Amino acid sequence: MYSRIAGTGSYLPEKVLTNHDLEKMFETSDEWIRERTGIGQRHIAAEGQTTVDLGLEAARRAMEAAGVVPEDLDLIVFGTTTPDQIFPNCGTLLQERLGVRNFPAMGVEAACSGFIYALSIADKFIRLGDAKCALVVGAETLSRIVDWTDRSTAILFGDGAGAVVLKPADDPGIISTHLRADGSHKDLLYCPVGPSKGFPVDERGRTPMFIHMAGNEVFKIAVKSLGSIVDETLAANGLDKSAIDWLVPHQANIRIIQATAKKLDIPLERVILTVEEHGNTSAASVPLALDAGVRSGRIKRGELLLLEAFGGGFTWGSALIRY
Ligand code: COA
Repeated sequence: MYSRIAGTGSYLPEKVLTNHDLEKMFETSDEWIRERTGIGQRHIAAEGQTTVDLGLEAARRAMEAAGVVPEDLDLIVFGTTTPDQIFPNCGTLLQERLGVRNFPAMGVEAACSGFIYALSIADKFIRLGDAKCALVVGAETLSRIVDWTDRSTAILFGDGAGAVVLKPADDPGIISTHLRADGSHKDLLYCPVGPSKGFPVDERGRTPMFIHMAGNEVFKIAVKSLGSIVDETLAANGLDKSAIDWLVPHQANIRIIQATAKKLDIPLERVILTVEEHGNTSAASVPLALDAGVRSGRIKRGELLLLEAFGGGFTWGSALIRY
């Protein structure tokens, strides 16, 4: 038994923050940001709008596309690093918002790889016969943990959500998923506070609940790790890179995406690119790109997709999918 994607959905909050808006907040330029990252704008959740609010919109659209109703669901796996609250987890909060109950609903925290991790978990539930209709969500309100005075990180991140519905199938569907983590890089990309370590106040009187990043080093390791995970994914399935119809990458930085595309010898026309429109939305970025590819009619049923992501931890991973 395999799982297959029955429907996709996504949602971006209304408010848009352009590079020109950022020029008014600190010393930067549209040109610099576009050249180094490929980002033109990012979406920002409204005051009071939470990660689960965004996830709910994406989930509704994915369920509609799949032709399922909340009562059909028997599993929710929700990838996020910016949960509404410490607990209940976002999967359970989403379940309640959908008006259903009595089946497993969980949150998965793997930074920007959160959706790939969530997808891999849901795929295994379906393969084992433990779920027949799984909702997999990646959603974030990263704007809440961005230091808007730090130009080296504030230019990169945005809010959004994406979702897929997985159902059982005799043929794949999800052919394989590959997950990795290496905590020895924990100090290169992180948010330093939490209920266990505490919420100290810094010399400026703020709780530094912000993303910290050594951009240059992250960049190099991301390129290397994504290069090897796509190689491993192809090798594990005895496939040549020419077999891939679409690369659906994590949308962190156009230059990282270009490096992975080059490794796969895949032209940028066969890469789903959304980074310009919404920047790095962490766990939401891969399902947002997938949904953009599907809804624009570029990704068609039967095509072979390679999804990949890389994030804080580091965590990274891939999924090979016959759509
Ligand atoms: N606008 C203008 N100048 C900026 C700037 C900004 N927003 N941010 C940094 N700079 C400046 C720096 O101060 C530095 O100036 P200096 O040479 O006078 O010291 C210069 O630009 C180069 O900085 P550097 O950090 O070396 O730039 P970079 O080429 O590495 O680009 C990133 C910075 C963040 C765009 C890049 O490292 C990156 O994208 N890294 C990966 C980040 C990522 O994707 N993380 C998430 C992974 S999931």
